[in-house]
Amino acid sequence: MKAIDVLTRDHERIKALLDLIRDAMRELETAPRPDVATWTHLLEMCEQWVDRVHVLKEEQGLFPILRSRGLGPEVTVVAALISQHQTGQAFLRELHRALQRLAAGDAAARHDVLVWARDYVELLREHMRIEDHYFYELADGSLTAADEAALLEKFERIDRTIGATVDQQKRWAAMVAAQPPSSRPH
Ligand SMILES: [Fe+2]
Ligand SMILES: [Fe+2]
Repeated sequence: MKAIDVLTRDHERIKALLDLIRDAMRELETAPRPDVATWTHLLEMCEQWVDRVHVLKEEQGLFPILRSRGLGPEVTVVAALISQHQTGQAFLRELHRALQRLAAGDAAARHDVLVWARDYVELLREHMRIEDHYFYELADGSLTAADEAALLEKFERIDRTIGATVDQQKRWAAMVAAQPPSSRPH
């Protein structure tokens, strides 16, 4: 597997996670009682798999290599992608706060959870669209065989040490597989 394939596989799993958030949003709009436990679980998955595992692979693995090559316009793209990572992290923090209020019985927090969740899902979908359809291909073309080996080793270390244990990876893969075919990532 190439380094870019590892990142693309992460994206497929993240897209499946976003589909689950969409389902939870639909449910939260009408449910008499909010399912705080499900939301807490979904948020934990975002914090761990999106914010820590995947973003770290890009920001500590792929991006520094591209930057060290002094790639012209791509450097601007990297800066824009990092800025989107930071925005996503800020949205996730707000979502976390809104969820804490919801769990504490604040009825007005339901609206805030929905708004922040929608913004987060939209941002991540757009971010991954740029990476999938433009950036990864461009990055792939500039990686040497030595870069590939170094990146794969780094990605494995991040998966291992940041918390995506084999067991968690299996759960993540099972979650994607459990989705109905119509909502699976394409
Ligand atoms: Fe990214
Ligand atoms: Fe990404």
